[in-house]
Amino acid sequence: MTKTNTIGLALLFVIILLVGVVINFAVEPSNHNSNMEKEETSIKLPPPDTKGEISVKEAILKRRSVRDYEDDPLSLKEISQLLWAAQGVTSPETGKRSAPSAGALYPLEVYLVVRKGEEIESGVYRYFPESHELAVVLKGDVSEDLARASLGQTFVAKAPINLVFAGVFSRTAARYGERGTQYVYMEAGHAAQNVCLQAESLKLGTVVVGAFNDEEVKETVKMSENETPLYVMPVGRK
Ligand SMILES: Cc1cc2nc3c(=O)[nH]c(=O)nc-3n(C[C@H](O)[C@H](O)[C@H](O)COP(=O)(O)O)c2cc1C
Repeated sequence: MTKTNTIGLALLFVIILLVGVVINFAVEPSNHNSNMEKEETSIKLPPPDTKGEISVKEAILKRRSVRDYEDDPLSLKEISQLLWAAQGVTSPETGKRSAPSAGALYPLEVYLVVRKGEEIESGVYRYFPESHELAVVLKGDVSEDLARASLGQTFVAKAPINLVFAGVFSRTAARYGERGTQYVYMEAGHAAQNVCLQAESLKLGTVVVGAFNDEEVKETVKMSENETPLYVMPVGRK
């Protein structure tokens, strides 16, 4: 083999290696929850039910924004079901989730704020869809702070729990550039609608809250720097 051939072969090898790295970057599922370490204090959630008594059409028909809740706790089972509807993994073999996601990049994160729960203490938790677990972010009731951050919408503090959706724009922008910004908002809509219909099917009431101070919501649930709050969803018995 001539010297030129050897150099040529070496170059070809380097190019193949580089192409492999680029392809891998492009098609690997996103590193979900990549910016956070799961804390040691994690809570395994009960498995979600996948059969229900009310039809989708009935849930759509009955869904209405509810801002008045009984002062009852929600059970861990109900909380588990709501989180699964929001972002749970529905195809374990592919990691795909309950709501559609552009390029299956999953830019949404879900926080749970508990004021009054059964088998779960008051506090802020982060949901990990892959393991269907919660990690404790902080202990104690922050629902009054969340209501203040939601421009004084008092029903936020009256609900036994709130789900708070966050978006990590860089996850989607990495593939879709500027258009990725729209995709993240669209996805929050899908996930929130799932929660609305799931709540209805559990005979619970909820409302999507978009009027809030971003920085205050972020601070209340201790979001990471790269997360943007997208929705607050109080849920309770109607
Ligand atoms: C993007 C968006 C933001 C919203 N923000 C709030 C909010 O901050 N507070 C609130 O009480 N309702 C909020 N809502 C709920 C609407 O007021 C409600 O959906 C509307 O009145 C229609 O009533 P329905 O949901 O019962 O059909 C919001 C809805 C959307 C889609």
